[in-house]
Amino acid sequence: MYLLILIIVFSVVVLLSVLMAPYIRKYVAGGVCLSQARLSGKIVLITGGNTGIGKETARNLAARGARVILACRSVEKGEAAAAEIRSKVSGAQVEVRELDLADTCSIRAFAQQFLKEVSHLHILISNAGVMMCPYTKTADGFEMHLGVNHLGHFLLTYLLIGLLKRSAPSRIVVVSSLAHNFGWIRFHDLHSQGSYNSGLAYCQSKLANVLFVRELARRLEGSGVTVNSVHPGTVRSELVRHSTVMSLLFTLFSFLLKTPEEGAQTSVYCAVAEELHSVSGKHFSDCTPAFVAPQGRSVKTARQLWNVSCELLGIEWD
Ligand SMILES: NC(=O)c1ccc[n+]([C@@H]2O[C@H](COP(=O)([O-])OP(=O)(O)OC[C@H]3O[C@@H](n4cnc5c(N)ncnc54)[C@H](OP(=O)(O)O)[C@@H]3O)[C@@H](O)[C@H]2O)c1
Ligand SMILES: *[C@@H]1O[C@H](CO)[C@@H](O)[C@H](O)[C@H]1NC(C)=O
Repeated sequence: MYLLILIIVFSVVVLLSVLMAPYIRKYVAGGVCLSQARLSGKIVLITGGNTGIGKETARNLAARGARVILACRSVEKGEAAAAEIRSKVSGAQVEVRELDLADTCSIRAFAQQFLKEVSHLHILISNAGVMMCPYTKTADGFEMHLGVNHLGHFLLTYLLIGLLKRSAPSRIVVVSSLAHNFGWIRFHDLHSQGSYNSGLAYCQSKLANVLFVRELARRLEGSGVTVNSVHPGTVRSELVRHSTVMSLLFTLFSFLLKTPEEGAQTSVYCAVAEELHSVSGKHFSDCTPAFVAPQGRSVKTARQLWNVSCELLGIEWD
């Protein structure tokens, strides 16, 4: 008797799932950037544009007519992605430059070359990121998550901000995450030398992204340069490569994850949407404003992080 009920319930659930599948899929896909904005004559720089969300963001912006530069740590992978984009988008202008965000020498060399060769920069998308890697340090001795996700992009932005201002109106989009909610900035042990948890280190770096955006927006007021952060959604990509558990979960529940193309929508939205032309310092998800954790709204923490970041990078930025 119970077995029969169980079977019936199970069948109903399966049937409903199948019937609902298109709706579930649409819900999972999330917000879509509806803007038809064209970007002819515009120059775009995307870090980590060789795979995942970055590659799809590059493809979308290239299809709008922009000249897109992929800044990748592997030129070979970058060229493969560029070739793929050119094959899908006729007339796409895509270029590849070498940039390793885990090495400030590489970032400085990249910027120096970039400033020599490129006359304008209208859109900077700080997209590259690492998640849950084993304890490692960057060339400069920074913990890898903080070093690549936050400090690397902080230095890159510092080096390119003059060009962005000269190219105004221009936009900066920083790909953060919902994970910022679970992070806090451990000023007493920024590089997790005392204790290391790869998940928390990721969350700390993504919170740093949000705080950086808010403080930078304040400093850029009136400059014609806007900066916003993004949560792309939970997206099928190579991001989980360092975690066996996460890789397994992502494979099992892949039908509940966004495709990279869906995951790129909010980055594209923040880069092109007409209605955002003067919106700055905000956080977006599914192409709408999104919740920012209290620790991401603290002006004091944002300023303290700004100061510490400048110290670590040996720069003065005010
Ligand atoms: N996927 C998600 O569910 C999710 C959710 C929230 C936020 N995000 C954020 O979305 C962004 C893009 O991630 P994704 O999901 O597209 O992951 P992904 O497929 O792993 O792509 C990450 C990109 O970052 C590059 N990168 C890593 N370390 C670098 C370094 N030292 N220098 C230069 N580039 C480096 C990678 O290059 P290689 O290919 O050479 O490794 C790759 O191009 C990340 O910032 C991530 O935190 C993703
Ligand atoms: C950051 O540095 C500035 C200038 O050196 C200083 O005035 C300010 O008090 C510092 N802020 C924090 C929160 O440490």
